[in-house]
Amino acid sequence: MTTTSPPTPQALLTRINTNAARDNIDFTVLPFHKEALDSITKLHEEATTIVLPDFTNATKIDTHTHPVPSWFRTLELSAAGRETPSWNVTDHLAFMSARGIRRSILSVSTPQANAFASPSKFERDAELRKKKTVALARLLNEYAAEVCRIWPERFSWLGVTALPFVEESVREVGHALGLGAVGISILTNAEGLYPGDAAFTPLWRFLEERAGRHGREVVFIHPTDPVIALDDGTLISSRPSPLRSGLGEFYFETARALSSLIASSPPYNSTLLKYPSLHWRISHGAGAFPDISERFLLGFPNESAAAREAYKTRCWYDSAGPVWPRQIKGVLEGMGVGVGQCVFGTDYPYGIGFWDVDENIAGLADAGFIPGEEREGVLWRNARELWRGKIAL
Ligand SMILES: *[C@@H]1O[C@H](CO)[C@@H](O)[C@H](O)[C@H]1NC(C)=O
Ligand SMILES: *[C@@H]1O[C@H](CO)[C@@H](O)[C@H](O)[C@H]1NC(C)=O
Ligand SMILES: *[C@@H]1O[C@H](CO)[C@@H](O)[C@H](O)[C@H]1NC(C)=O
Ligand SMILES: *[C@@H]1O[C@H](CO)[C@@H](O)[C@H](O)[C@H]1NC(C)=O
Repeated sequence: MTTTSPPTPQALLTRINTNAARDNIDFTVLPFHKEALDSITKLHEEATTIVLPDFTNATKIDTHTHPVPSWFRTLELSAAGRETPSWNVTDHLAFMSARGIRRSILSVSTPQANAFASPSKFERDAELRKKKTVALARLLNEYAAEVCRIWPERFSWLGVTALPFVEESVREVGHALGLGAVGISILTNAEGLYPGDAAFTPLWRFLEERAGRHGREVVFIHPTDPVIALDDGTLISSRPSPLRSGLGEFYFETARALSSLIASSPPYNSTLLKYPSLHWRISHGAGAFPDISERFLLGFPNESAAAREAYKTRCWYDSAGPVWPRQIKGVLEGMGVGVGQCVFGTDYPYGIGFWDVDENIAGLADAGFIPGEEREGVLWRNARELWRGKIAL
């Protein structure tokens, strides 16, 4: 659908509902669907009242940020053991302006569309769980799309999927990319399945084909809590430690997810190596992965050379959290990755109050072991290179 002038709220709603009906998506399975649709059509009201802060000298591109629509926040009041933060565009723009961030890439954080798979809200009826997941993915995508339609200078977005439901995810991702998403965002696991699971092959194939001969598609992997499926299909938490998962478990999840993409033994299928147009945005400087990367490859000698090459060319590691100047050495020195694969991220608003974002930025800016020019690259140029024209500066 191509429109040059902004749609009226009614036209927007009609488009969203018509597309949902076309795709067999039933919003009414979600008790909060009216509130969600309202919040999308009301976004433009914030645009009319907002006093835009100054972005004159802002250059940074923040590749790891999260929109939190209020109805999504209510759905999961706790994220990785901390209170899910409130968010709005006004606050986000103020945060960006104060730190010289010109553009932020939005992607919904955990649990994304899998809210009904989390042990606390587990929907036992598998068919209903699927319908809810699919409907939630669509609402989250329409929300992010509308934010970026209204503020195209400041925000880009990554679409969420309906994984582990693969057919529905292919359709959802097609819809999101058609609406202007600059890639997709997945969780480290979806109902206990890791991204390299061969069951997800149709999604990667779809993206590879869409990327075309010279293009690329970006897949962001964001941590979530680990779960395990019992024989009767119930999902329970498999977090072995009472410590909140944001402290360490998220890093182990990131390592598991990346491992799954390399492994060639069932259920995995060396996904990372098979789709040369897919570029993987890895959260938090690859989490715990650098520590296991060499040991893990001992199990896959036939893939190891290609995997090491992929780490250096098609994986992109963000700075969100206390990653620079110390932890990043696992990526740079341990895995031999160039600074050109490192991008800037803040994890706004989830990172606020967890770590000191300003200290993180300083940690990057002051990392004396790499040349200033390369540090500048991390702040914006590398992201522009990753997205190749899909994000305007
Ligand atoms: C932007 O940078 C220029 C040149 O350094 C400076 O003169 C100007 O005051 C800055 N503007 C703002 C709003 O920070
Ligand atoms: C955004 O959230 C802040 C609280 O974090 C609140 O003070 C402000 O009124 C909100 N702005 C809008 C436009 O909703
Ligand atoms: C694994 O990938 C190959 C392509 O390299 C494909 O032919 C095969 O079907 C995949 N296996 C599974 C189980 O999806
Ligand atoms: C590596 O590839 C060779 C030749 O295709 C094969 O015989 C061997 O089983 C593979 N090794 C592993 C560990 O998969």
